[in-house]
Amino acid sequence: MRVMITGGAGFIGSAVCRHFILGLGHEVVNVDKLTYAGNLASLAPVTSSPHYAFEKLDICDADGIRAVFSKYQPAAVVHLAAESHVDRSISGSNVFVQTNVVGTFNLLEAAREYLDANQHLREEGFRFLHVSTDEVYGSLGESGLFSETTPYDPSSPYSATKAASDHIAKAWHRTYGLPVIVSNCSNNYGPYQFPEKLIPLTVLNALHGQPLPVYGNGSNIRDWLFVDDHARALGMILEKGLPGETYNVGGRNERRNIDVVNQICACLNELRASELCHERFITYVTDRPGHDQRYAIDASKLETDLGWRAQETFETGIKKTVRWYLEHTDWWKPLRNNVYRGERLGL
Ligand SMILES: NC(=O)c1ccc[n+]([C@@H]2O[C@H](COP(=O)([O-])OP(=O)(O)OC[C@H]3O[C@@H](n4cnc5c(N)ncnc54)[C@H](O)[C@@H]3O)[C@@H](O)[C@H]2O)c1
Repeated sequence: MRVMITGGAGFIGSAVCRHFILGLGHEVVNVDKLTYAGNLASLAPVTSSPHYAFEKLDICDADGIRAVFSKYQPAAVVHLAAESHVDRSISGSNVFVQTNVVGTFNLLEAAREYLDANQHLREEGFRFLHVSTDEVYGSLGESGLFSETTPYDPSSPYSATKAASDHIAKAWHRTYGLPVIVSNCSNNYGPYQFPEKLIPLTVLNALHGQPLPVYGNGSNIRDWLFVDDHARALGMILEKGLPGETYNVGGRNERRNIDVVNQICACLNELRASELCHERFITYVTDRPGHDQRYAIDASKLETDLGWRAQETFETGIKKTVRWYLEHTDWWKPLRNNVYRGERLGL
């Protein structure tokens, strides 16, 4: 199967490209604008594969997207391209509206035209998988889980633009019969994550002997999923998921931010015996405006209907992740030196 993947040079998109080519034997056309978050080095394991093609393109470029559909004739689209960092969305929301809302609209329209011109693809099971986040559901109190029917209540410019794109994608299914599936996943972590997000930022700041910032009092809870488990979920949803359906993806790994940072320090204490007590760099900083208190996913629909299970626990996944950053300075050094040095964003 030939799959068009948007945002394939990003953190999750590159894991999906690697899994689809090396694990599932699919052909992949990666469409990516290569923003600050896009990195072709994350695709090194597949770049030389005859099953991999790359198009540097902005999803807001409607003519360009149409041309890619017509050139590659994909059997499915997995749409991950987005601006993805909440703090950056607070500092500058315009590009979030452009990419996440207008870009998604462009892709849906191009897919609709493409299917209209190639009706046989409907019978052959064409799918448009729109990849989204649990942040669209807003914040939970101390108990409860997000299900696929939880009402949307986004708090940040990032989650608001993702929510808008989810609504547009679902409307294109109901109104035009485009075979859209939406997935809403919890926080991902793992290798190749751009070092602005909590886990890689904490690891790299600790390696540099710099403060490990914890927002507010550190009590905010996220439900962590190892990125390769997400990639496997997307492969299964594409294969077995039903058009018009939503699937929540999460690993049942709720952790307070302060506990995540402490666990990273414990891993570093173990792996870097010469530098003990990384916890001494933990620094509480001003909270993020509009900071959601708790996210937690009920993934039972994905587990029961499609047979997916997360393979990593947080304990196994975080160890792999910390070790990966220690062993891959060649991947993150150019980013840390030239793109983002760890300064606070989004105040
Ligand atoms: N990271 C998470 O924890 C998480 C959780 C759930 C859902 N998601 C969703 O998964 C998707 C991928 O997230 P990520 O963390 O890998 O993001 P990322 O920021 O690491 O990567 C985004 C990729 O999209 C590309 N891109 C951005 N704007 C583009 C445009 N206009 N045209 C073409 N390409 C463009 C970037 O170059 C980059 O390669 C996003 O849609 C995000 O909302 C992320």
